[in-house]
Amino acid sequence: MMHKELSFPTPIYVFDYGNSSILESPLNHVLKCDSISSETCRTTEDNLNFLPIFSELVNELKLKTKIVFDDIKLKRSGENITCMWANVSSKLNRHNMHMHPNSFFSGVLYLNAPKNCGNIGFKDPRYGSELLAFDFEEDSVFRHRTIEVEPVTGRLIMFPSWLYHGTRQGEFDPPEERVSLSFNVMPIANIKDHTRKLNLL
Ligand SMILES: [Fe+2]
Repeated sequence: MMHKELSFPTPIYVFDYGNSSILESPLNHVLKCDSISSETCRTTEDNLNFLPIFSELVNELKLKTKIVFDDIKLKRSGENITCMWANVSSKLNRHNMHMHPNSFFSGVLYLNAPKNCGNIGFKDPRYGSELLAFDFEEDSVFRHRTIEVEPVTGRLIMFPSWLYHGTRQGEFDPPEERVSLSFNVMPIANIKDHTRKLNLL
């Protein structure tokens, strides 16, 4: 008899809202708000979660965060979105691999995703996993070195903040733009154990 345990899992959650009306006001706000611009991308301030126009969406994203934290059986008394910002990108934009510091979980919600607007890719976090690059059968969960998810309008992806991720360049035409809303979440928790005290409100 054999027992197999896939240890130290890296969860990536995908939810689909579709073209929900809950996206409309935040999208319109992002398209006209002040931003820090590069040639291919405009980034808003990171306080969108505190704006009244985002309150309905923030509550919804907190519900999804609760589902995720319940799923990983995290002990806490609540969930707190610590910051939220949006990127408005042209097809030439690509984001290099990065992680989100000072955060436990992160999410990206596509407010507008033209077809072929550049997949988001998550890098295998296991140190040394690329040292030997063998081929695996199509149905092997071990064959991936990067997991890609296609952006679709209304798609929400949530992942551990330490997981390196990046975005490919897109292949869509102006005036279309990819609008993504990113956010970081922390659990509300008061850990009292000796040498690992932490009070997160
Ligand atoms: Fe990111």
